[in-house]
Amino acid sequence: MPAELIDGVAVAKEIRAEVARDAAALLASRGITPGLTVVLVGEDPASAVYVASKEKACKEAGMNGETIRLAADTPQADLLALIDRLNADPAVHGILVQMPVPKHIDPQAVILRIAPEKDVDGFHPINVGRVWIGDDTGFAPCTPAGVMVLLERAGVRVAGANAVVLGRSTIVGKPMTSLLVNASATVTVCHSKTRDLASVTRGADILVAAIGRPEFVTADMVKPGAVVIDVGINRVDDPTAKRGYRLCGDVAFATVREVASKITPVPGGVGPMTIAMLLKNTVRAAEQRA
Ligand code: GUN
Repeated sequence: MPAELIDGVAVAKEIRAEVARDAAALLASRGITPGLTVVLVGEDPASAVYVASKEKACKEAGMNGETIRLAADTPQADLLALIDRLNADPAVHGILVQMPVPKHIDPQAVILRIAPEKDVDGFHPINVGRVWIGDDTGFAPCTPAGVMVLLERAGVRVAGANAVVLGRSTIVGKPMTSLLVNASATVTVCHSKTRDLASVTRGADILVAAIGRPEFVTADMVKPGAVVIDVGINRVDDPTAKRGYRLCGDVAFATVREVASKITPVPGGVGPMTIAMLLKNTVRAAEQRA
């Protein structure tokens, strides 16, 4: 029997409805409207699309969503000064500087400048540390946080499970590892230097693929009955597609689906969760405001 699909669109919709309810409650009880400010430096078209959808999602949840657009040649000092201003603004609860930033700007300097209490991306080392130690006041990066919600709402038992994370990025693989460990999974992290990768992935009850290589995970790498979470979003050339490309994940979906018990599709799996969790982090930042 093919694996059951984990429907990220439906779960993201639930989360957004919960966020809207929590935002309304915060307004009623304390007169606070949660606000997210997104800063976009330059005109990268893909980033512009992401940023517009973040602003729209905020407004749909009854939150304030503002985008500040800066020219591609904005000096780093000006960007840091803007962050200082947003850190001090009581109407701004969440700050997100869209990555990647232009080459003359050091992304780590930007991340370090954002007040940890407003770092709804969960990129600041203070939040990385808080998440590692299981401090619930920390912000986890939105994509791995979204994966945890998908697992929970799909009824997947994480405690005691063997989880394998493919990829060790700062944005997905490493925080995914800390969230799974804190949920009492036994976690193995694999990367480009891992020996005999398939023998490791075949031990996984939960396999999270986040390596950015199209259809890298094949059926022979998956234990029958495993839960497979595909974080990848890759463009591959497809002359038959209208846009000349199609989107695919890090998992060879059609064949892995025959082996797994549950699987996320691409698109419509993990992707929609990212913005939903960003909104959730922003409401929590507003709730936690002193
Ligand atoms: N660029 C692509 N995804 C993200 C994200 O989650 N946060 C930020 N800040 N930039 C991104």
